[in-house]
Amino acid sequence: MKNCYGLILAAGEGKRMKSKQPKVLHSVCGKPMLTHVIGALNNSGVEDYIVVIGHGGDIVKKHLGEEIKTTYQEQQLGTGHAVMCCEKFLKPKKGTVIILAGDVPLINSRTISSILEHHVKNNYSATVLTAEVDNPAGFGRVVRNSKGDIEKIVEHKDATGSELNITEVNSGTYCFDIELLLEALGKISNNNAQGEYYLPDAIEILKDADYRVGAYKTNYCELMELESSPHVSEIIPSVSMGVNSKLQLHEANEVMKKRINIKHMLEGVTIIDPLSTYIDADVVIGRDSIVYPGSIIEGNTVIGEDCIIGLNSRIANTIIENSVEIEASHVHNSYIKCGAHIGPFAYIRPDSVIGRDVKIGDFVEIKKANIGDGTKVSHLSYIGDAEVGKKCNVGCGTVVVNYNGTSKFKTIIGDNSFVGCNTNLISPVEVGDNAYIAAGSTITENVPTGALAVARMKQVNKEGWVEKKGIWKK
Ligand code: UD1
Ligand code: CA
Repeated sequence: MKNCYGLILAAGEGKRMKSKQPKVLHSVCGKPMLTHVIGALNNSGVEDYIVVIGHGGDIVKKHLGEEIKTTYQEQQLGTGHAVMCCEKFLKPKKGTVIILAGDVPLINSRTISSILEHHVKNNYSATVLTAEVDNPAGFGRVVRNSKGDIEKIVEHKDATGSELNITEVNSGTYCFDIELLLEALGKISNNNAQGEYYLPDAIEILKDADYRVGAYKTNYCELMELESSPHVSEIIPSVSMGVNSKLQLHEANEVMKKRINIKHMLEGVTIIDPLSTYIDADVVIGRDSIVYPGSIIEGNTVIGEDCIIGLNSRIANTIIENSVEIEASHVHNSYIKCGAHIGPFAYIRPDSVIGRDVKIGDFVEIKKANIGDGTKVSHLSYIGDAEVGKKCNVGCGTVVVNYNGTSKFKTIIGDNSFVGCNTNLISPVEVGDNAYIAAGSTITENVPTGALAVARMKQVNKEGWVEKKGIWKK
């Protein structure tokens, strides 16, 4: 959008969170609240934006990276003061600025575009996004005159008895004409219950100077971008507009979780029990995949089509191709190829690649290992720092002994090899293609291609030993 700019206020301490972490970095569906707000602002097409940081500013800055513009608010003297800290950014610009708080993770680009359009179309000097809520406690109240025009916003702590009964509240999102905002900011005082410079006071200042100000009222549904699913309107609690406590963080998570699950279901994913399914905001899932109850799918995970995930699985930052089945297992930062079957009760640790049609069975741990196409590791094994070829059979109880107490070493197993049950492979060691290892072997030397390795004591039977000891008589 031409001549439209953004500000995100993210300097507040968030005392009510009772946390060491800056408020805006608390996660909603796997992403910090501030990142959600930035995403929505970016998608709304503003020309440029800046984030006001302050409390825990270094940590927030580190999180944002160098590319995102920031300005420091040394002392958190209120939302109006936070905007004053953006003077340098705003002064050379003409047009409209949209101001958002960093603690409104549920805002979306459509809401931002709608308020911007409403503001520009009506030629307002300021427009505030408001909402009608059941429980307005804690929010700034929108005071309208007898004609229904907005007069001012009164903070909860400054409100009179009758003002406290108002149920239309300030969402904390505003559009301003840049020049008029800068003018109004100079007139804001901190003469109020909290001794802070309130940004909402700019509305009253502009109104009193005979500028047109508007209030863009949404219903919850619109605010949450859920018109496409009429049946979910009742699940949207208004409180999630601004997250100030861990309880509200939970509520925002619940709303976002429902939104995400609904999106996937409308895109053709079967979710058996959305209540017990937790999918992070950026996860991608292909059509006809089925997610069973108790599954948590995190980070940048991408899941293909026709997969079966769960029951009770945790998958993080993993690429999963089509037709993969993952049952009651944990998979982290790995790559799972087409047709693989994992679990139940498997643990795939970072940097693993599980080949096509591989079977990883119960109580198998894979760490930083490549498992070749068609290989089976069916039960009770540990494969760490290893390369296992194609079409191998790794017997029950196989352990790659990759660590000597100081350093880690690598094991390589060739294609079509057979590793007998209860084998220890003492790394570093190489097993060639088409090799066999006898069950119970402890392999310390390389095994050549096509060889059988037996590395265990030969069996000795002592005839009549039990009777001789007097333990049992024939
Ligand atoms: C604010 C509004 C209130 C509105 C509510 C909606 C004011 C005075 N009140 O109240 O009318 O109903 O949001 O959620 O604006 N911040 C700074 N610097 C500061 C203070 C705050 O950057 O000095 C940032 C915070 O990090 C936060 C945002 O501004 O992201 C809002 O601040 P917060 O203290 O949460 O305001 P509320 O009390 O929720
Ligand atoms: Ca707030």
